[in-house]
Amino acid sequence: MDTLTGLILRPELGNDYGDITALNNIAFGQSMEGRLVEALRRNPHFIKGLSLVAVIDGKLVGHILFFPILIKGEGKVFRSLALAPMSVLPEYQGKGIGSALVNLGLEEARADGFDSVIVLGHRDFYPRFGFVPASRFGISPPYEVPDEVFFAMELYPGSLQGVIGMVEYPPEFAEAEA
Ligand SMILES: CC(C)(COP(=O)(O)OP(=O)(O)OC[C@H]1O[C@@H](n2cnc3c(N)ncnc32)[C@H](O)[C@@H]1OP(=O)(O)O)[C@@H](O)C(=O)NCCC(=O)NCCS
Repeated sequence: MDTLTGLILRPELGNDYGDITALNNIAFGQSMEGRLVEALRRNPHFIKGLSLVAVIDGKLVGHILFFPILIKGEGKVFRSLALAPMSVLPEYQGKGIGSALVNLGLEEARADGFDSVIVLGHRDFYPRFGFVPASRFGISPPYEVPDEVFFAMELYPGSLQGVIGMVEYPPEFAEAEA
């Protein structure tokens, strides 16, 4: 791993919006995730402190968003957070920037009173932070996805005990795909 001299991680600011969209477009090679971030930012549940950027020499090189979601069980609704999307500029990948964003995001999520995080993503990347298949807790995705890419993480030991239900994403997720 290269050293990350000068890496700054901080919450997004108003003048980062264009760069965040562009970064997502480049990292994913499509505009869906950039549109998703823009749409979620207009949703009243958006939490500025959980949209984090990585900056090196004044250049925005990484971004991660955690957005409030619900896990709906029989007669019970639980609050959680979706980690989505996250991106690092291709030439800066593999240097630990993505991991640093995840780790800071998990800390901020705890500080903001959340006790779990859900993510749909790369099977070899997320387990290193403590994510395990969500099915282990009885948490299911709202559409069919392979079990090994749909993860949940307890932010406190036991915090997902008894949290059984289906994740409900805000409508912006489906709309961004359209
Ligand atoms: C995923 C991503 C954010 C990781 O950022 P990063 O700064 O490269 O992450 P780190 O340097 O901290 O960690 C790199 C690890 O991520 C893994 N990784 C990156 N892309 C991956 C992929 N498509 N599938 C599985 N693992 C992946 C690398 O293999 C590497 O693993 P290693 O440490 O065992 O070698 C970045 O690769 C990216 O922007 N990818 C394109 C967009 C994307 O896929 N976002 C995530 C959606 S779930």
